[in-house]
Amino acid sequence: MSKVLSAVAWPYTNGPRHIGHVAGFGVPSDVFSRYMRMAGHDVLMVSGTDEHGTPILVLAEKEGVSPREVADRYNRVIATDLADLGLSYDLFTRTTTGNHYAVAQELFTVCHANGYMIEETTRGAISPSTGRTLPDRYIEGTCPICGYPEARGDQCDNCGNQLDPTELIDPRSKIDGETPEFVLTQHFFLDLPALAGALGEWLDGREATGTWRPNVIKFSKNLLEDVRPRAMTRDIDWGIPVPLDGWRDNPHKRLYVWFDAVVGYLSASIEWARRLGEPERWREWWNDTAAVSYYFQGKDNITFHSQIWPAELLAYAGRGDKGGTAGGYGELNLPTEVVASEFMTMEGKQFSTSRGHVIYVREVLDRYGPDPLRYFICAAGPESQDSDFTWAEFVQRNNSELVGGWGNLVNRTASMIAKSFGEIPAAGALEPVDEALLDTVRGAFDTVGELIERQRVKQAIGEVMRVVGEANKYVSDTEPFRLKGAHERERLATVLHVLAQAVTDINTLTAPFLPHGANRVHSVLGGTGQLVPMPRLDEVTDLDTGVPYPVITGEYSSSPRWESRPVVPGTRIDKPTLVFTKFDPSVVEDEVNRMRGEVAQGEGE
Ligand code: MF3
Ligand code: ZN
Repeated sequence: MSKVLSAVAWPYTNGPRHIGHVAGFGVPSDVFSRYMRMAGHDVLMVSGTDEHGTPILVLAEKEGVSPREVADRYNRVIATDLADLGLSYDLFTRTTTGNHYAVAQELFTVCHANGYMIEETTRGAISPSTGRTLPDRYIEGTCPICGYPEARGDQCDNCGNQLDPTELIDPRSKIDGETPEFVLTQHFFLDLPALAGALGEWLDGREATGTWRPNVIKFSKNLLEDVRPRAMTRDIDWGIPVPLDGWRDNPHKRLYVWFDAVVGYLSASIEWARRLGEPERWREWWNDTAAVSYYFQGKDNITFHSQIWPAELLAYAGRGDKGGTAGGYGELNLPTEVVASEFMTMEGKQFSTSRGHVIYVREVLDRYGPDPLRYFICAAGPESQDSDFTWAEFVQRNNSELVGGWGNLVNRTASMIAKSFGEIPAAGALEPVDEALLDTVRGAFDTVGELIERQRVKQAIGEVMRVVGEANKYVSDTEPFRLKGAHERERLATVLHVLAQAVTDINTLTAPFLPHGANRVHSVLGGTGQLVPMPRLDEVTDLDTGVPYPVITGEYSSSPRWESRPVVPGTRIDKPTLVFTKFDPSVVEDEVNRMRGEVAQGEGE
């Protein structure tokens, strides 16, 4: 048993999350965390909403409300959506808590004391017409590295390089097109060159394990080719104050949102421990070098998880070229795995909130429930290459695989048992065909478990569905519906017993992917209570300031074991209700039309 930190990317509170987001960080991390708990590991799964930064400020200005109001609104929306999707966070919190402010400031203070925050005068952009600072990502221009004409001031989406707005060729403001003016301003820069050696050593060690996805390790090593100090403060008035004399009370200087967001993994672990009443418990996942950590995110986040966050941790521990001493949190573990997924497009195009080309998690949950979406993401998500969500494939996979394959197996098994025995019958002597099915199902625990552990969710669910196919084939081969004669009663009992066993075990195999469905199958098979624990949304108050907010949390220690669980003959089985629902093919057209309507509306605005 190991301590496993499941560190899930923090969604921005600049709007509700769309299905591309949960395909990137959400469902994959939940499948992994649920499986690891079932396999007996001590999992701590943390995340929260990322509430600082320019996009939230810009949205608030547009609406004429405070950034706090925008953050509060979408914190609640996002937490509710993720809880309803069944994501089993031990704690899903937010970056505007007193706890998070204190932890982020402690990290900054010690990195600074150790010499890894260099103060420099740079040129920052302002809007000549308003005199206000112009955030990096609101400046556009030609990328000096690859020539892409629409590079952003912070990053080029074409070549993926980090940029400084002053490097852009022909810079212009994205807000009104005017040419920004660059004025002198003071900032703190994380001394990445002084940490590059330690970062490289860590990455080499990670590469040697061969477990990182090839594109992630390659991208991360590339970043080290050209490291420069990176600004960790911003000219902005929404964010965490810079904890240094002369800066602390300056309302226009704040920590860079990415400096604080990645600290969230640590601060949320600490908040979890404080809420538990065992304030030091987080250390088991962070200070013990035997603990492992998995960071889940979309590919646009790799830089921050394989370079900035590890650099902060190394600087905090004094493990760069300049030496230093670790602060009170001690030496903190660097990421074991950085698990990044690719992008999901929708009906062939990039998601775009502004153009209305978007499907929100809430819409899918309200109209179709969590299972079909989780199933689609697992089976056809952007795990290691970009993937496309189409309503046609969504309906087809639901109808033929989830309902036609798995749901049908559950339904016919329970119906036949209810009709012929009313309870799970005891088995007579097993024939080779029976043994073969039971072997296949039992064997799947190793195969599927190993695939999930290596974050091969797509292959893992494919293997589960292959076993479902074997069980359905067993029904066709043994034809229990024909075993009607009195002399065939014992054989019928054996076949239905074997099927009950197979369905029970396959249900355990589906639990990490389809927890809601697994609970319904459990009750169809005569089980009582909940098989799989579910997250809940709790209303709490800030531990330091008393401000109320919702968190996702849960009690997951009752997760079923990842192993075959023998069925109990005599367990009563009633005529089943359907576990999964077929969608009418008209859904495809309706949804596509709805999208078109929304797109047209979006364009008219
Ligand atoms: N808010 C970022 C995004 O949505 C992700 C932040 S992950 C964090 O892309 F860990 F750094 F918070
Ligand atoms: Zn570029």
